[in-house]
Amino acid sequence: MAAHSTKEQRQGTGAGHRDAMAMRLRAMTEGDLPQVIRIERQCYPQPWPGWLFRRLLREGRFCQVAEVDGAVGGYGVMVVSRQRAHVMNICVAGACRKHGIGRRMLVHLLTQARREDARFAWLEVRPENHAAIKLYRASGFRKTGMRRHYYPARGGRENAILMARILVPRR
Ligand SMILES: CC(C)(COP(=O)(O)OP(=O)(O)OC[C@H]1O[C@@H](n2cnc3c(N)ncnc32)[C@H](O)[C@@H]1OP(=O)(O)O)[C@@H](O)C(=O)NCCC(=O)NCCS
Repeated sequence: MAAHSTKEQRQGTGAGHRDAMAMRLRAMTEGDLPQVIRIERQCYPQPWPGWLFRRLLREGRFCQVAEVDGAVGGYGVMVVSRQRAHVMNICVAGACRKHGIGRRMLVHLLTQARREDARFAWLEVRPENHAAIKLYRASGFRKTGMRRHYYPARGGRENAILMARILVPRR
């Protein structure tokens, strides 16, 4: 587990990634929402509605953006409750992908989850989302089950893979 933390910390800095973009992670604000919603619509066949982002922000959930050259290049949303962290959304704009932003965002969320004393993190992912599954596996998540009919999809509903990992508390 200690080795895992070390690896995550190295990944979290972006150091060593082949060409990490100049970016910073910061709290999402209402002012970011037009950009966030635009990216959400570009990236998902069934995007979250704007009201859901607004509600999560109002509830004080952990909503972060990756700012690239002054614009939103990606975002992450996580809810921590009863020592469990639910990674609800990680999304990187098409033009910003494969520069280490998704990985850094995930490390950032898990670091915050540990700060909030979470012992366990979990998420859902579409079975055909190979990029995301690879990212999650590399970050210590493993498949723990399936959620049937989890995602809305054209003409019905789609199953989700459930992935989870243990979190080691920060000392
Ligand atoms: C999944 C997603 C967040 C990855 O973001 P990203 O910034 O491009 O990812 P990174 O550059 O940090 O890559 C981290 C790792 O993810 C994996 N990965 C990312 N894109 C990949 C791709 N197109 N194919 C295969 N693996 C990929 C790799 O393991 C990569 O590590 P490596 O570059 O050392 O091989 C991004 O593709 C995305 O926003 N997709 C649309 C939204 C989405 O599906 N979100 C997940 C919902 S569950």
